[in-house]
Amino acid sequence: MSPQTLSASAQPGAKALRKRILTGDRPTGKLHVGHYVGTLANRVKLQDEYETFLLIADYHMLTTRLEKLEEIEQNIRDDVIDNLAVGVDPDKVTYFLQSRVPEIPELHLYFSMLVSVPRAQRIPTLKDAMRDHGLREPTYGLLGYPILQAADILCVKGDLVPVGRDNESHVEITREIARKFNELFAPVFPVPRALIPEIGLLPGIDGREKMGKSLGNAINLSDDPKVVEKKVMSMYTDPTRLRPTDPGTVEGNPVFVYHDTFNTDKAEVDDLKDRYRRGAVGDVEVKRKLIVALERFLEPIREKRAEIERRPGLVDEILESGTIRARAEAQRTLHEVREAMKLDYFGS
Ligand code: TRP
Repeated sequence: MSPQTLSASAQPGAKALRKRILTGDRPTGKLHVGHYVGTLANRVKLQDEYETFLLIADYHMLTTRLEKLEEIEQNIRDDVIDNLAVGVDPDKVTYFLQSRVPEIPELHLYFSMLVSVPRAQRIPTLKDAMRDHGLREPTYGLLGYPILQAADILCVKGDLVPVGRDNESHVEITREIARKFNELFAPVFPVPRALIPEIGLLPGIDGREKMGKSLGNAINLSDDPKVVEKKVMSMYTDPTRLRPTDPGTVEGNPVFVYHDTFNTDKAEVDDLKDRYRRGAVGDVEVKRKLIVALERFLEPIREKRAEIERRPGLVDEILESGTIRARAEAQRTLHEVREAMKLDYFGS
């Protein structure tokens, strides 16, 4: 344990010692290697340095779907298990469930008074969500999505918010809300910063720019070796290359993007690239070696998952104790909020 961790845990409520991270997942189900590259790896890296809260944003799921809600519970479990399996350590990171922290919707209500309707309508992800879900008009709830996210972040006074580029505008409106609240009432909130990974998106196995569960082009962290093999062997490569003796393009070729990301044997990658460019290696060999590299990465994750699954009740325990901790923080924050807003009448 580092001295920092020691003193932080020795003084409950002494928040100033380490900056705090709040990050979140909508529980959409099993996570894939694109999630690993985009966010999970960063979580594992940052968990030693920052006091980290990981929110499972189940309320956010309701903003775009009201069918098959019975699937959400399993999705929450899968999300937690995948985070645990890649090493997001529950001794360092507070896992918590949004719908078990009623202070979040309360804060969302106060924040909704600080944002004009046109401002909320200008958030670029609103149009994307409407297009993706075939909606002609947004519900009031969907319009409020980023404002709910601001409540997630600020209920525990998050300083840093690691998110993908697509969430940048949500952190921006969170900053506006924090500033406005502080100015109007009292300086309760930090003005949080987005932490956006530099690395580009990992392409899908079909060569499309983005890997996505709904796009059907993902390799899941929980896929078994047979499935991984099948997916890699079907991967999109250089479409202009017909024979192994044709010179091929390495740049932007998904198989090589994956090699660069997951193959730790850099000499092997360089050799493959060189032979590919010269037309001296076939796709099959390149893919076989990628399967080996991916398995080196995925096998320890599978072992960890099996270990977690041998302990029924573990996920519930982690979520329950984390939610108690996060909720205590949120209650403290809301106490300050009501006081600042003069809503602390009648013994609140
Ligand atoms: N909006 C995030 C997504 O696109 C999920 C999320 C909800 C979130 N609340 C958050 C992310 C708070 C960071 C902080 O999946």
